[in-house]
Amino acid sequence: MSDLFKEKASDWDANQMRTQLSSAIGASILAHVPLDGNMAVMDFGAGTGLLTSHVAPRVKSIDAVDTSTAMLEKLVAKPEFQGKVIAVCQDIIELPLVSRYDLIISAMTMHHVEDTDKLFATFAKHLRPGGTIAIADLDKEDGTFHEAGTEGIYHHGFAREELKNTIANNSFVDIHFHNAHSIERNGKSYPVFLVTATNANV
Ligand SMILES: C[S@@+](CC[C@H](N)C(=O)[O-])C[C@H]1O[C@@H](n2cnc3c(N)ncnc32)[C@H](O)[C@@H]1O
Repeated sequence: MSDLFKEKASDWDANQMRTQLSSAIGASILAHVPLDGNMAVMDFGAGTGLLTSHVAPRVKSIDAVDTSTAMLEKLVAKPEFQGKVIAVCQDIIELPLVSRYDLIISAMTMHHVEDTDKLFATFAKHLRPGGTIAIADLDKEDGTFHEAGTEGIYHHGFAREELKNTIANNSFVDIHFHNAHSIERNGKSYPVFLVTATNANV
């Protein structure tokens, strides 16, 4: 699999839009998901760890799952993650992990996954009974958020009602959407939601 983030990884964290977005998503998770020091967490599509950094101090461990070696190299180089965050370079949709988590978080990765239904089935499979998801991505947009021709974009954001049905169909309950942030760019607003839900499997 080619690494679509190889070129972007080197200066990923230098972009203020990205750091502000991950701060806002992190704040929304802290506001809506009770965290504690015993929790095992997965950050799906963790990249360089921008979102991970907001949650790591409040939980026991984070497995930072990503398919980009270049992005994860940046994450593992961060000294604050030592002993707390483990990088996992694997496509868990095709090759699931044996680990189970109390919480799965994710920022701006869902639109890179073609089969959203399979993604939520994968999340359900990786959660402990009663585990939680907190997933952030763009609301439905007109296709202008990414530059035309950007590879690996399967969705121009998500319609909340449609996504809610997909999540419910994969054994999740208590599904709530929160307004996490709005990205202002070229005179346009791109709202970002955080959806939280609980796995009903016992
Ligand atoms: C837009 S970046 C977001 C990175 C990070 N969450 C952040 O907010 O800075 C999307 C990330 O998802 C990763 N990704 C794309 N498809 C993936 C998949 N199927 N499984 C895991 N990670 C994936 C990419 O490699 C990239 O690091």
